[in-house]
Amino acid sequence: MGDVNKLREEFVRECKGLSSLKQLNDLRIRYLGKKGLLTQRLKALSALSPAERPAAGKEINILKRYVEAEIKRLEGELSSLESRKKVATESIDITLPGKYIPAGSRHPVNRVLDEIVDIFLFMGFTVEEGPEVELDHYNFEALNIPRDHPARDMQDTFYVKTDGERQSSSSTGDGGDKREAETDVVLRTHTSPVQIRVMEKQKPPLRFIAPGKVYRCDSDVSHTPMFHQVEGLMVGEDITFSHVKSVLKLFVHSLFSVDTPVRFRPSYFPFTEPSAEIDIGCVLCKGAGCRVCKGTGWIEVLGAGMVHPKVFEGVGYDTEKYTGFAFGMGVERLTMLKYGIDDIRLFYENDLRFLRQF
Ligand code: DAH
Repeated sequence: MGDVNKLREEFVRECKGLSSLKQLNDLRIRYLGKKGLLTQRLKALSALSPAERPAAGKEINILKRYVEAEIKRLEGELSSLESRKKVATESIDITLPGKYIPAGSRHPVNRVLDEIVDIFLFMGFTVEEGPEVELDHYNFEALNIPRDHPARDMQDTFYVKTDGERQSSSSTGDGGDKREAETDVVLRTHTSPVQIRVMEKQKPPLRFIAPGKVYRCDSDVSHTPMFHQVEGLMVGEDITFSHVKSVLKLFVHSLFSVDTPVRFRPSYFPFTEPSAEIDIGCVLCKGAGCRVCKGTGWIEVLGAGMVHPKVFEGVGYDTEKYTGFAFGMGVERLTMLKYGIDDIRLFYENDLRFLRQF
């Protein structure tokens, strides 16, 4: 009996010295584990005589229930103590500034591109697309720009080597200089080939725009090797040059302001006849003359004209029945004018200080 009392005293003493859940767990194992002090004593009961066993068993079991209850109580006490300690040491400083998650913004060129598309959708145009890697046939030939045409020099073309050319140049040693309109592949130099691709598939009447990337081997303050154009085409039975004027004037007035002066100048494009270039009054100096408009007060923003009969013939349109007009514009240039940007290369340097302004 004395032994059980001593064990109880020892347990009580040990409990007083506890300061963590880990220590409490060690204590539990020491008393209640498989080889624990109480477990051993319960096992030892079998060695006693049947007369002694009930009283001794009762004593030990009372202590065991006490130990179990104490451990449970201490567990609650210590765990709340530990979490209070944790809160005290790991407190949150709510005055710290929050994490800055920068929000992206639309690229200025894409913003203006969207605006252009919206204006033409409003006028009943649809939106079409064509490939950026294009056949020479669509980029030039079908647009009445034959192989020896001087207009080809105006556009510094990137030619794409095809599988056939690669093979022939490696096996015969010639650089594949012999070019064929039917098979030659280029990066499109303008969006005009989309005119042909759409007309091959659709019968008149039609009116659509074709926005997209174009490529020219060129780079300076006003040229980048890749830039964006929006092409337009409208074909029907009674389309005249007055449609060109009204549609494009409405477009300029919508994109800039209704008081922006617009003028049409005679020009030349192989795929339109007659052709025109469209100038707007310089939006920066309001016509007074500045560096951007080279002192003229006018800036060229669009090319346009009545579709050349040869282009219609190529796609099988009846030139007696149908007429149409086409136009093309450079999106970077319009964006520069809208936002007063004087170097086109800024668009593609990915300088966040520039891009964050939009
Ligand atoms: N494709 C011409 C260029 O890249 C722009 C252009 C001019 C398109 C007149 C047209 C047009 O559709 O009628 O310079």
